[in-house]
Amino acid sequence: MTEMTPVTDVAAAKAPKVPALPDAQTVTEVKHWTDRLFSFRCTRPASLRFRSGEFVMIGLMGDVNPKTGKQKPLLRAYSIASPSWDEEMEFYSIKVQDGPLTSKLQHIKVGDEVILRPKPVGTLVHDALIPGKRIWFFATGTGFAPFASLLREPETYEKFDEIIITHTCREVGELTYGRELIEGLKEDELLNEVIGEGFWKKIKYYPTTTREESPKMGRITDLMRSGEAFADLGVEPLNPDTDRAMICGNLAFNLELKDLFENTYNLEEGANSKPAHFVVEKAFLD
Ligand SMILES: Cc1cc2nc3c(=O)[nH]c(=O)nc-3n(C[C@H](O)[C@H](O)[C@H](O)COP(=O)(O)OP(=O)(O)OC[C@H]3O[C@@H](n4cnc5c(N)ncnc54)[C@H](O)[C@@H]3O)c2cc1C
Ligand SMILES: NC(=O)c1ccc[n+]([C@@H]2O[C@H](COP(=O)([O-])OP(=O)(O)OC[C@H]3O[C@@H](n4cnc5c(N)ncnc54)[C@H](OP(=O)(O)O)[C@@H]3O)[C@@H](O)[C@H]2O)c1
Repeated sequence: MTEMTPVTDVAAAKAPKVPALPDAQTVTEVKHWTDRLFSFRCTRPASLRFRSGEFVMIGLMGDVNPKTGKQKPLLRAYSIASPSWDEEMEFYSIKVQDGPLTSKLQHIKVGDEVILRPKPVGTLVHDALIPGKRIWFFATGTGFAPFASLLREPETYEKFDEIIITHTCREVGELTYGRELIEGLKEDELLNEVIGEGFWKKIKYYPTTTREESPKMGRITDLMRSGEAFADLGVEPLNPDTDRAMICGNLAFNLELKDLFENTYNLEEGANSKPAHFVVEKAFLD
């Protein structure tokens, strides 16, 4: 009898890692911005097509149920922060210390797997707006995420002459992800080639803080009502003939801006099925 030699499965060792999770994608980069905010990049499902500004459900496997011994995916809605053309996916996330998902997600490392359900949806898309001259992106906190996608989307610059992005956060450090992303557009060789050299000059960035000293303090809603924001930016208040807007923030912020748009600036809310002047999406529930 010939002795069995132990088999070293070279092919298996060299083969791509078999995903252990359903709809698994592999984390390729993680950056921590503050003790409450981080961003990460992961592989993109080969078949996933999405429109810049949309969101998907992402997550991790939940804990083992002691009764059934089974695990269920723990999923949450996340705006895709990367543009539709990017070969990877990017997400910008809160860390809620007792949050079912983000108490774990905040510890992911390069090489780990996340679940990504490939069913993109959302209203913050160019298709939901009628043509205009200027587009406003209004964000609070992690509501910047869909605009991180749209600011890297060529269609934004093809459709509009001017792009104004406002970002209101409690503290200065919470602005860093957005600020670095916008500054990075100047050096982005690919985008300067594809969209046109100096495309980023169309952007006006208006960051404000409410609870820590910074060059511009205050809620954007108050700064618009007083006229200060328009004076600082050197533009006229929003006008249905020229201005289009997308809103992504906490519920109170979204409702306040919607009221301002409809009752002060005479803008009409749009949807995928009925494009109009502005669209709204929650940055998180409650
Ligand atoms: C359409 C949509 C898109 C979203 N996109 C993003 C995104 O791009 N990035 C992101 O971090 N979250 C996003 N969220 C929120 C996200 O779905 C989860 O709520 C978040 O990841 C926290 O999950 P959790 O299980 O840890 O806690 P949860 O139980 O979901 O939330 C616990 C509490 O934390 C607070 N909270 C949750 N999310 C946030 C947040 N983003 N900012 C501030 N406070 C928050 C709320 O008070 C909430 O009640 C989105 C939500 C919706 C509805
Ligand atoms: N950010 C932090 O440092 C921090 C730390 C610990 C826990 N948390 C908790 O995390 C949750 C989310 O906090 P967050 O800071 O990410 O988001 P947030 O509470 O939605 O605040 C983000 C920004 O939006 C502004 N804002 C809120 N309502 C507005 C409105 N109606 N119109 C215009 N602007 C408005 C806030 O200004 P105001 O400051 O004026 O409200 C703040 O600058 C909260 O439950 C909070 O208690 C936050």
